Amino acid sequence: MDRFIIEGGAKLHGKVKISGAKNSALPIIAAALLTDKKVVLENIPDLVDVRTMIELVKHLGSEVEFSHNTLKMHTPKIKRIDAPYDIVRKMRASYYVLGSLLARERRAKVSLPGGCAIGPRPIDMHIRGLETLGTNIEIKDGFVHAQTHFLKGQEVNLQGPKGTSVGATINVMLAATHAKGDTIISPAACEPEVVDVADFLNKIGCTISGHGTHTIVVKGKCTPASVHHRIIPDRIEAGTFAVAAAITRSKIELTHCQPEHLTGVLDKLEEIGSSIDKSNDKVVVKGIRNMHATNIFVAPYPGFPTDMQAQFMALLSVVPGTSTIKETIFENRFMQAVELMRMGANITIEGDTAVIKGIRKLSAAHLMASDLRASVALVLAGLVAKGQTTVSRIYHLDRGYERFEMKLRKLGARIERQCE
Ligand code: EPZ
Repeated sequence: MDRFIIEGGAKLHGKVKISGAKNSALPIIAAALLTDKKVVLENIPDLVDVRTMIELVKHLGSEVEFSHNTLKMHTPKIKRIDAPYDIVRKMRASYYVLGSLLARERRAKVSLPGGCAIGPRPIDMHIRGLETLGTNIEIKDGFVHAQTHFLKGQEVNLQGPKGTSVGATINVMLAATHAKGDTIISPAACEPEVVDVADFLNKIGCTISGHGTHTIVVKGKCTPASVHHRIIPDRIEAGTFAVAAAITRSKIELTHCQPEHLTGVLDKLEEIGSSIDKSNDKVVVKGIRNMHATNIFVAPYPGFPTDMQAQFMALLSVVPGTSTIKETIFENRFMQAVELMRMGANITIEGDTAVIKGIRKLSAAHLMASDLRASVALVLAGLVAKGQTTVSRIYHLDRGYERFEMKLRKLGARIERQCE
């Protein structure tokens, strides 16, 4: 297992190119199963999760070429309808093939994804939505066994305990493309990645409207076409580098990003004290010495994203004053807190709220990553900690960040990867 060695104290400078969005690439690769025509996807990030999704669609019968961030995919025939446990356990987003296989083959057998470090991650809303469209679903031997005589367009209610669901919105949308009649999904998630999936589906011959709002309409019957599609930039990677500038009090430029997807994050950085300069596909972030505390309330898009709260916890650990973060989406997403406390951070967890009292300087430590965003928060803390920080189990980070340490090194950070 690899680890990072980070020498704290370096200032950052220069430009960093933001990669394509992981959370858009994964469902769009699954959505490409809907057509028997050739599909070319550009700006696909070269990540462990993307390679796992490629392994899955190849298992199902796709011919795939992936190089230099371009993925060519052709699925003339679906050869298998099962998503095996040893693939799904590596990446829960494998469940997106449920919607595609039901649409194209009217049956699917997908391993239950199980929970992960940040929470139980149930898929009951996916199942309820697919059942509403006329799917018979049985959970047996750790698998979702799904089949349908035909999918029928319906009104699908996706109200869950924490609001709606990004994954369930996408899964239902995929299945509904081949239903008889129209499907209305409400409340639908309106994250940019959901919009990107809908844009892709419209390009391959489906008819979707309302994406980006809380009500999506999917007209049944999709006339498959071949397509070129460019994946949107990764707003969470962009936000992560913006925090790297703020925490090291540096000035860096994010390129190839989409500033309008970053509003919740950039507004919060400005409130804390960073200066932000946005243009069409660039953002210049300048961290300043005298930042001040703030209160963060995680919310669905366009609110402050849950995928950015760990990074901000690292930042607020060294911002004078008392800050709070309220995590409203996942049950156990403060795993980075205990590791940051080992660096001297003053954090107390009160239920779904973290209270952070900023200190002047973190001290280096041996740290262990627990999940994707917690691991990147530890790296950000290591950039400013006094001494040499090691972050082990960075396979968590490799799932969602492309060439992360190389991008940081190019900005001037002193970080290297070591095989443990
Ligand atoms: C997507 O997860 C993202 N993953 C997550 O990013 C992101 O944090 C999340 O959306 C919220 O924005 C991908 O896109 C691959 P949800 P998803 O369904 O779809 C509950 C990252 O770091 N829920 O919107 O799984 C659920 O437990 C990852 O890149 C049910 O109860 O999130 C959670 O509390 C982490 N039943 C809430 O809803 C269900 O059937 C929102 O989850 C589904 C979800």
